[in-house]
Amino acid sequence: MRLQLMTWMEVEAYLKRDRGIIIPIGSTEQHGPIGLIGTDAICPEVIADRAAEELGCVVGPTLSIGMAQHHLAFPGSIALRPTTLIAVIKDTVLSLARNGFERFYFLNGHGGNIPTTAAAFSEIHAERSLNPGLGRPAVRCKLASWFAFQSVSTLCKELYGDRDGHHATASEVAVTQFAYPEHIKSVPMDPAPPRPRPFYDADDYRSIHPDGRIAADSFLATPEAGGRLVAASATAVIEDYRAFMAEV
Ligand code: NI
Repeated sequence: MRLQLMTWMEVEAYLKRDRGIIIPIGSTEQHGPIGLIGTDAICPEVIADRAAEELGCVVGPTLSIGMAQHHLAFPGSIALRPTTLIAVIKDTVLSLARNGFERFYFLNGHGGNIPTTAAAFSEIHAERSLNPGLGRPAVRCKLASWFAFQSVSTLCKELYGDRDGHHATASEVAVTQFAYPEHIKSVPMDPAPPRPRPFYDADDYRSIHPDGRIAADSFLATPEAGGRLVAASATAVIEDYRAFMAEV
C-alpha cells in the first residue's frame, strides 16, 4: 500500500493495527550512458512495493533526492547538502510519528546516503534521550540497502562478478530495466577501466570517469536479471522488516 494512494481515513485505520512503515530513499544522479537518472530511487521503490504486497504494510513517499554532489558535473543530477537531507529525514519521521507511526524502515538505493542517514537517525533518537518527557511512543529508525543483503550480493557476483562495478552497476541498471522496460537505453560503450584514484568534487569525478560509470559494465544489464534481483532483495526485506517489527 502506497501512502500516496491512501486516504487519511485508511491511514488512521491502518494505525489501529500496525505502526510500521517502509520509506524508500535514493538519489537523483547520473548513472552513465544507459543508466536512468532516477536509478537509486527507482530500485528501492520497486523492491519496497514488492515486499509490502506480502507484508501488508504501508510504503511512504520515496525520498528521491540525496547525497549526489560528486555527480553535479553531469546534467540532470540534483544534490542535497548533508544538513538538508538530515532535516528532510528528521521532519518526515517526526511528522509521521506525530500521526502514530513508530517504526521506520528506510530502504536505501544509494551508498552515499548511508552516513548522512545514520546521522539523521542519531538526531531523531537523541530527541527522546534528551527530552524524556516527550509523551509519545519511542520512535525507531532502521536503514537497509537493497543491494547489501547477503543473498543479493551473492546473486550480483553470480551474474556479473567484478564487472558489476561501483557506480552505474549492471545490477542496479538491470533492476530499472525490469521496472521500466519501455525505458531501456542502448548506447555503445567499452568495458569500464578499474577505478584509478579517489575523487573529491564534481569536476574531479567527471575528469576521472568521463562517461559517469565507475568500473561498471552497465551494458551487461538485462531486465530478466533485474527481476531476479528484485525478487531476492524483496525476500530479504520481508524477513528483515518482520524482525525489526518483532523487536521488543
Ligand atoms: Ni546508483
